Amino acid sequence: MLRSKIGGIGYYVPEKVVTNHDLTKMMDTTDEWVQERTGIVERRYGKKHEETTTTMAARAAEIAIERAGIQKEEVDFIIFATLSPDYYFPGCGVLLQRELGITGNEAGALDIRNQCSGFLYGLSVADQFVRTGMYKNVLLVGAEMHSMGLDFSTRGRNVTVIFGDGAGAVVLQPTEEDNQGILTTCLHSNGAYAEKLAFINPGAHGGYHASYQEEEVDYGYPDVEFGEMFITQRMMDEGMLFPYMDGPFVFKMAVQKFPEVIMEALEKAGQKKEDINMFVPHQANLRISQFVQRRLGLRDDQVWNNIQKFGNTTAASIPIALCEAYEAGAIKPGDLVCLAAFGSGFTWGAALLRW
Ligand code: UT7
Repeated sequence: MLRSKIGGIGYYVPEKVVTNHDLTKMMDTTDEWVQERTGIVERRYGKKHEETTTTMAARAAEIAIERAGIQKEEVDFIIFATLSPDYYFPGCGVLLQRELGITGNEAGALDIRNQCSGFLYGLSVADQFVRTGMYKNVLLVGAEMHSMGLDFSTRGRNVTVIFGDGAGAVVLQPTEEDNQGILTTCLHSNGAYAEKLAFINPGAHGGYHASYQEEEVDYGYPDVEFGEMFITQRMMDEGMLFPYMDGPFVFKMAVQKFPEVIMEALEKAGQKKEDINMFVPHQANLRISQFVQRRLGLRDDQVWNNIQKFGNTTAASIPIALCEAYEAGAIKPGDLVCLAAFGSGFTWGAALLRW
């Protein structure tokens, strides 16, 4: 039976370390608050005017490609998950192709907009391509340059302290080995809560206040012409160009949906929670990961957390953590690895794979 396996994996985080103490110089927050509520001690920020989401992705991809034992030109499809793309359009997939210097092979490139679960959605898509025999070397990347678009005033503190920059990449390849590869992926969404964790401006909503909005938000549209609604002066003046999160609401949903989708994946693959050797959760909040760990009955050495060092890197968090675990020798051939994520959309999912 043809399955897809992770043939190569790599990650890249920028050099610049930003501690909680560094953030206290810009906003009203404390190291104690951030550590107690999230587990985060520090995160990385990309180098201004030098690094972008795409350049970080390329560094991670180069490592993954080399470990997969292929030449860059042999990548026959690119999938790029990010919520912080270099451009509004085109997406980072084609920019990565150019950054890697492989435009000559004209491989397809697909961008995924599923935020925290973007890597899992990408993994599922890549898996289908490989299983069907359509592609042999699918490069999947999750990368974020959050630091470019955060509100560093006290107003944005609940969101800003959480996020960090980085990139992770895998190359999916076919395998016919019995005990290897992706066993299953489960994907879900519920758009009813789209604005609970969102970055809605700039956008083509045109100030339309759909039923979802609990409070009326005046974007100042009556004053602007039709063609100028995408990004308005008012959005800039009043700080409407930053992400918003209803943290407690997202937290409550996350601790419900993580275990639910993991149990679904286990059942689908005919496995039990006791069979999991390594759990690599999306690094949203250490408290969420610990809650899920307890529900699964896993020991500390069966869960890989690195949010303490890197913060929440959204689409990059799972491949970075998975790569770290692999490099540390914490995942061995034949191990059952469980990946899971929950985030903006809401979208969430889980994957089970035999290493
Ligand atoms: O990866 C995508 C998915 N995202 C998540 O899963 C995130 C889920 N949510 C969370 O992780 C948590 O809700 C947060 C870490 C974001 C916030 O923690 P919380 O315990 O839910 O705090 P809160 O939002 O309920 O705020 C409690 C208090 C508030 O003050 P008052 O109203 O009680 O006086 C906030 O204003 O903490 C205040 N606060 C802060 N204080 C210091 C919020 N952010 C900060 C801050 N520093 N950075």
